[in-house]
Amino acid sequence: MIKKLGYLTEATISILAEDSIAFDTPFMGRFGLSVLLELKAETCEKHILYDTNSAAAPILHNLKIMGKSLDMVTAIFLSHCHYDHTDGLTGILEAIDQPIPVIAHPEIFRPCFEINPDGIRHIGIVGQSREDLEQKGAIFTLTPNPLNLMAGVTTSGEIERVTSFEVLEDLYTIVDGKVIQDHERDDSAIILNFEEGLVIVTGCCHAGIVNTMIHAKKITGVDKIHAVVGGLHFMDASEEKIEKSVKALDEVDWVFAGHCTGFDGLRRLSNALGDRFDPIHTGSMIHFPVEDPSNPVTTIPTIVRDLHRSYRE
Ligand SMILES: [Fe+2]
Ligand SMILES: [Fe+2]
Repeated sequence: MIKKLGYLTEATISILAEDSIAFDTPFMGRFGLSVLLELKAETCEKHILYDTNSAAAPILHNLKIMGKSLDMVTAIFLSHCHYDHTDGLTGILEAIDQPIPVIAHPEIFRPCFEINPDGIRHIGIVGQSREDLEQKGAIFTLTPNPLNLMAGVTTSGEIERVTSFEVLEDLYTIVDGKVIQDHERDDSAIILNFEEGLVIVTGCCHAGIVNTMIHAKKITGVDKIHAVVGGLHFMDASEEKIEKSVKALDEVDWVFAGHCTGFDGLRRLSNALGDRFDPIHTGSMIHFPVEDPSNPVTTIPTIVRDLHRSYRE
């Protein structure tokens, strides 16, 4: 357990790039996820970039429209190795242009692939070597354990798998020359602590949201979950996993899901949680703790949307 995690007083979670775009907005969507965490505690303030989508270009494009920048980002966190969360890293390091810690699990660079009837498809970090990334400024900070990033903020570290229904996917890796099942041990989350409870930010959530919630409570000693934000990987999941996960999420005040949650998963969450659920899109901004329940997710103002209409470019 983490001693004295402390509290955040305020946070804005901005979806910089995700599979979809918010309605009637000039954002650029792209498969994957990248999130800006703007975090405030009583004595300090920090910005963390969570994942880098499958390309840097949409992140940089969308930041401009949102009136945000990477200037105050002091660390990059990679939730797991999959390309839709890591392929943008080179471009982001080039944009930041100074050394920066990149926090991830020690197995982040392992081979990770699917074996399909028509060939092998690598979905981990390929085309970006650790050395190249380090030359561009990445200071890899690789640990399987929770890492306290500031008052009220920790990474989850490796998430313990305790449920029977959140099973491994058909993915492979190579250890000592042998092709074996990939255990996706690198899948991790960032956990924020408010007086209202924990906010858990997930990437793809391959560990499963129920395992992730149990783990977050265990390492923080906090039993209340205020919100879950991110991908939940209900896409192609078993009926049992979706049903039990949606039921477990009923204890959470707010759920903001997208990316690999999939249409059916989003529909099920909406039916079960009603107004306590909102889908996330590229350009969504969520302010924590949630103070305006009638409008928890905002996007850019109309006047800014119009500034970016293509006839002006
Ligand atoms: Fe993934
Ligand atoms: Fe993903």
